[in-house]
Amino acid sequence: MNRDWDVNNNNKNEKPYLKDRHFGDYGGRYVPEMLITALEELENFYMSIKEDGGFQRELEYLMTHYSGRPMPLYFAPNLTKRCGGCKIYLKQEGLNHTGAHKINNVLGQALLAIKMGKGTVIAETGAGQHGLATASAAAKMGLKCKVFMGDVDMRRQYPNVYAMKLMGAEVVPVSYGTRTLKDAVTAALKYWIEHLEDTHYLLGSALGPYPYPLIVRDFQSVIGREVRQQIWEMENRDPDILVACVGGGSNSIGLFYPFLENEEIEFYGVEAGGLGPEPGNHAVRFGPGGKTGIIQGYKSYFLQDENGQVLPTHSISAGLDYAGIGPELAYLHDTGKIVFKSVTDEEALEAFQVLCREEGIIPALESAHAIAYALKIAPGYAADKIMVVNLSGRGDKDIFITAKALDRENWFQFLREEVQDDQPH
Ligand SMILES: Cc1ncc(COP(=O)(O)O)c(C=O)c1O
Repeated sequence: MNRDWDVNNNNKNEKPYLKDRHFGDYGGRYVPEMLITALEELENFYMSIKEDGGFQRELEYLMTHYSGRPMPLYFAPNLTKRCGGCKIYLKQEGLNHTGAHKINNVLGQALLAIKMGKGTVIAETGAGQHGLATASAAAKMGLKCKVFMGDVDMRRQYPNVYAMKLMGAEVVPVSYGTRTLKDAVTAALKYWIEHLEDTHYLLGSALGPYPYPLIVRDFQSVIGREVRQQIWEMENRDPDILVACVGGGSNSIGLFYPFLENEEIEFYGVEAGGLGPEPGNHAVRFGPGGKTGIIQGYKSYFLQDENGQVLPTHSISAGLDYAGIGPELAYLHDTGKIVFKSVTDEEALEAFQVLCREEGIIPALESAHAIAYALKIAPGYAADKIMVVNLSGRGDKDIFITAKALDRENWFQFLREEVQDDQPH
């Protein structure tokens, strides 16, 4: 077996395209002077500790015993049969503690925060999964926790808001701009500037000013490293096709990164096509509305109008409707290494149901985008090809969206009865 990687270790050899804190032309740290010192402190600290055996062991312990890693790589026989093409494997990140891949990065950064002597963590969240993971790690590790969340997202991801509060986090509603993830990031950055002394900004995706894209990618690469070990155990070779949904980019770069050197693999990132191509109806950064720019501290592709203002976005999945995308993915898009496609709300909902019925797995709506694209292309591959789809999260959090869309009458009846139950008799 080809074992030239180490499943427990982070990426020792950086890629040649990372120079001067940029991935090719993208990335950087375009932030107010005050933040430079904090980012430098984080960068120096991370670089000094990332290969430290003690730090790695502590992280591995948490990933194993708190979050439940390794996550299964499950061969999906019914989905494979239904498509009649390549073999489809699902990487089950939704089985993580708190229900998504987000905790991989959170455990890493929470440990960093403690080692740097910070007593508070702040986070932004869209779908609530990153906030939930942060609240959970903070409760466990004795850190104070504040989560910034657009009030539109708070409404549509209420189960996660409730859970974050249960675990002692303060959820701060953000009521300006589009009132979604973009504005939550802005609010978190603003708070951080004012509380640098004792606060670590626990950023949730592979984006933002350097070194965040690197740190988040490293912590999420456990996904790809595990997949590699598992697929070698089952198939004795690398996969041929990798598919992942792309919000900011953390689950996709986490799966792809350990495989980038393999020239034979096809990489597909799936963006949110939302309601269709009109501006404001989707989050397809690598489409007509996406232009390069410097926003929220880093250079990348962002959905912008002709004046460079960030456009509103839409997706049925709160975790995919961000106007920007991680800088490493922007670079890998330009080089053609990763091919980006999009899937509409309707297609994602359809794929959501297919996975429920065929395999008995309820995916997060974000992950249903990856499934939808996999269902489209799998029939076109020969039976001996191997595809791995990243199931970044499980679908419990989306019950208020999926039940409304798929079982409307019964769902509203249930809600009405619940409300009536609560009235004084
Ligand atoms: C389950 C799930 N998948 C995917 C995403 C998208 O984020 P990323 O592109 O950073 O993986 C989110 C974001 O909240 C999520 O909750």
